[in-house]
Amino acid sequence: MKIKQCESPQNIDKFLADQLVESINENPTINLGLPTGGTYTPFYQTSVDRLKQTNTDTSSIKTFNLDRYYNQSIKDHSSFEAFMHRHFFEPLSLEKSQTHFPYFNSDDDYGLYDTIIDDAGGLDIILLGIGVNGHIAFNEPGTPFNSKTHKVALTSSTIETNKSFFNPKEDVPTEAVTMGISTILNAKKVILVAKGFSKANAVYDMMNHRIHESVPSTALRLHENVEVYVDEAAGSLI
Ligand code: GLP
Repeated sequence: MKIKQCESPQNIDKFLADQLVESINENPTINLGLPTGGTYTPFYQTSVDRLKQTNTDTSSIKTFNLDRYYNQSIKDHSSFEAFMHRHFFEPLSLEKSQTHFPYFNSDDDYGLYDTIIDDAGGLDIILLGIGVNGHIAFNEPGTPFNSKTHKVALTSSTIETNKSFFNPKEDVPTEAVTMGISTILNAKKVILVAKGFSKANAVYDMMNHRIHESVPSTALRLHENVEVYVDEAAGSLI
């Protein structure tokens, strides 16, 4: 696990946006595992700008989102699908066939997401944030490291933290569907970004806690190609 502490969160976004442009130019059919959330919102903006400025061809990339809320309409403003449309898919005019979410009709079918990813050739790069409790995607503490895409009950701390993305009258969903830890570990390259003091403990534990399912992010230490980018605040305990 390589860790880089950057002076400002904006420097992380700019650096990773340039990396994305480079990666797509090197491999125009790249498969990207993509997150939602506050950490990456400015990254998407910067990436769209850079991709457009450089006339990078994104017509053959494929995206696979990490997770989505269970039983939520994709039309809801707070849905992860709507987030991705606003921040990345629409500005780049990606075709629907290029974008993927773990969305199936039956609870037994979520594992199919792993098959679809494998059939596409696997994830070349997966971008991750981290929850204050050490979750990655929506894999909460206690998730088995060999898990594939599955349905989860969210912890009260995650529900509380994610309230800010919903309008006050809306209920925050309590369940989600997420790529599993093994889905994530199967990616060829993993990039994790953490910003702000609220993530400092989670970053410390990811690097120092014994590798154990009680801290899902410690699974990343089992992967040989992980890059972690933190701003000064998120890296303040390491
Ligand atoms: C959310 C998402 C994760 C995200 C994390 C941090 O619950 N499921 O994929 O990385 O929590 O979110 P944020 O970037 O808003 O802090």
